[in-house]
Amino acid sequence: MKESSNDRRQFLKSSGLILAGATIFTGNLVAKPEWVFQEMEEEVSPNEDLMREHGVLKRVLLIYQVVIDRIYSKNDFPPDAVIDSANIIRSFIEDYHEKLEEDYLFPRLKKANTQVELVNVLLTQHKTGRIITDKILSLSKSNLKNDDDKKQLRSYLYSFIRMYNPHEAREDTILFPAFKKIVSKNEYDSLGEEFEEKEHKLFGEDGFDVMVNKVEGIEKKLDIYDLSKFTPKI
Ligand SMILES: [Fe+2]
Ligand SMILES: [Fe+2]
Repeated sequence: MKESSNDRRQFLKSSGLILAGATIFTGNLVAKPEWVFQEMEEEVSPNEDLMREHGVLKRVLLIYQVVIDRIYSKNDFPPDAVIDSANIIRSFIEDYHEKLEEDYLFPRLKKANTQVELVNVLLTQHKTGRIITDKILSLSKSNLKNDDDKKQLRSYLYSFIRMYNPHEAREDTILFPAFKKIVSKNEYDSLGEEFEEKEHKLFGEDGFDVMVNKVEGIEKKLDIYDLSKFTPKI
């Protein structure tokens, strides 16, 4: 999606040149075809960007849940699945997504005296989440030699899921809408561009798709990729 967004920008730049030519030729400054406006409206907004990053987080939470179930039922699971998932959380969620929230959303909301209490709780949860991820990474890298290690891992995974389900739900339904209300349309649009540029710089032009592909790979390893398997037989 990021790639297509970038393609769109390139496309719009080219379109701009064509239009500039057309403008000189016709002398009509308002004769922009409607499809140009439709393309421009499709840029990824800051909230859409943050919410689809939550989608990646949600899928990792599902992976964590499956690992918890396997530990509980004494079934095997590939330790790499946990390490790779925790690395996605570290790089894409904690060091990127949460940093966006901490650098761009939280200060603006505090300055506007909006949802301050919520912001403080979310910030504390970000810090706590990082500590839990450290524990998950160090335990899963130690090869989980005995049942106590596995039980401890299960407990950290559970704490992480229990905190982040309500965390992301509260951000989607309260924090992000509140943020959109306190910034101007211009600022909102330019932040969308800034978020995308940061993502491209850190993870490449198709960074979001790369993360989604990584999550898909882990889901396939755990045999939970097939969505239809989640449909109950009733
Ligand atoms: Fe957050
Ligand atoms: Fe978030």
